[in-house]
Amino acid sequence: MNILFIGDVVGSMGRDMIKEYVPKLKEKYRPHITIINGENAAGGKGITEKIYRGFLEAGAQAVTLGNHSWDNKEIFDFIDEAKYLVRPANFPEGNPGKGIVYLKYNAMEVAVISLQGRTFLPAIDCPFRKADELVEEARKRTSVIFVDFHAEATSEKQALSWYLDGRVSAVIGTHTHVQTADHRILPDGTACMSDVGMTGPYDGILGVEREAVLKRFITSLPVRFEVVKEGRTQLSAVLIEIDNQTGKAKKINPILINSDHPFYS
Ligand SMILES: [Fe+2]
Repeated sequence: MNILFIGDVVGSMGRDMIKEYVPKLKEKYRPHITIINGENAAGGKGITEKIYRGFLEAGAQAVTLGNHSWDNKEIFDFIDEAKYLVRPANFPEGNPGKGIVYLKYNAMEVAVISLQGRTFLPAIDCPFRKADELVEEARKRTSVIFVDFHAEATSEKQALSWYLDGRVSAVIGTHTHVQTADHRILPDGTACMSDVGMTGPYDGILGVEREAVLKRFITSLPVRFEVVKEGRTQLSAVLIEIDNQTGKAKKINPILINSDHPFYS
């Protein structure tokens, strides 16, 4: 089976890219499962119920989150009913929502797990030990297991990929908003990539208005970051081909759509 994973959707420009390109990507690559990271989808911080439902209507089967999961307070009103919304599983006990969901594909299931790193990010439970627990649980039901690892440090992302090699189908990084060129399949069959990249503004800095980011760097003064709302756009994704029986990855292909990398149907 093929899994299409689309990286961090940022603001309205990112949402517009989802509406425009998910149908085109589906036609071109025929993915069986489509997953979107939507933790920056509501103005750069968090997600609303309308946006979550819009992603499912656009063709996603699951939406993953990250460190901005709770930034839009509306989430607390709908997360308990949002069956396909996945927040980092290693958030401490007592957080609402869930860190693993099972999707149906023909007669089989696909497990989607979200984990968050701890290097240069808030101190939460250990993603490695939480992965052990969830992967053991998931492998009782399916061999096809997808992990979105929302983390800052490439070292931590590579470490988790090697740690889970042969136990999950893919470990794909999110959060840094820049697509990395290190996609590969590890020796025991786990596809990995440090970061899939972002979907939204192409000319901002990680999706944010450049002027504010520059002012912060140059003056160290506190500034308000605003998501870019108009201009050129991009979409970052990855397509993973997985053996249904073994759960091992067979191919991993990054997808990047922007003015410098135009989309060809
Ligand atoms: Fe993030």
